Amino acid sequence: MKKAGLLYEGKAKKLFKTDDEDVLWVEYLDQATALNGLRKDIVVGKGALNNQITSLLFQKLKDEGIESHFIEKLSETEQSVKSVKIVPLEVVVRNIAAGSFSKRLSVEEGTELAFPIVEFYYKEDQLDDPFINEDHIKVLGLADDTDIAEIKKLALRVNQVLSKLFDDVGIQLVDYKLEFGRTKEGKILLADEISPDTCRLWDKETKAHLDKDVYRRDLGELVPVYQEVLTRLKK
Ligand code: CDP
Repeated sequence: MKKAGLLYEGKAKKLFKTDDEDVLWVEYLDQATALNGLRKDIVVGKGALNNQITSLLFQKLKDEGIESHFIEKLSETEQSVKSVKIVPLEVVVRNIAAGSFSKRLSVEEGTELAFPIVEFYYKEDQLDDPFINEDHIKVLGLADDTDIAEIKKLALRVNQVLSKLFDDVGIQLVDYKLEFGRTKEGKILLADEISPDTCRLWDKETKAHLDKDVYRRDLGELVPVYQEVLTRLKK
């Protein structure tokens, strides 16, 4: 397979075409952003870590019967994925109160939720990814009832697998963001990435942040923390 033209450059990844129209080539960048891209820094080594962590997590999910767009890791910073049309939703799953949930609803960070919550945000940078509900999704034509039900079911299955996986290595999966795509055949498929950029991960004992909040909240060096997550997952 050969890498072809640049299709899209995002905040943390570049997406290239390949000589196979069903396959895309992803390069993870050494770039950290916050506040919807307003703050931006080069963080050497982050791309390789996120590529490795995402590849490992998608592989573990596959082992548990949850398919994703992931095909294989191609290098330290690159992977191949199935070409899908991304559903413009950020699907957030929460197990423990934190971040925008805590702020908006005044629930102390760290409060355990009675059951996992699934939230939808409209993936639209110009609008700052607003919080929306299922009626909004349908009226905007982003997905229909069947797709929404499938997305929620998959998001909660991912939650079962990943919560256990992280718990086994002493990490709490607090919350995370997933994205889904549609294949040519119309099947909903887990896509994008699952990494400390898109998850809140807390050490079970110390509650130390092992995720992008280290950067967002200026809590120290990001690379050693992401390395710690990878090292634990590889055990
Ligand atoms: O991160 P923030 O407090 O702004 O928002 P949140 O709604 O509490 O984020 C919930 C989870 O989704 C966190 O793990 C974020 O890292 C993740 N997220 C993301 O990966 N990308 C976004 N655009 C928004 C949230």
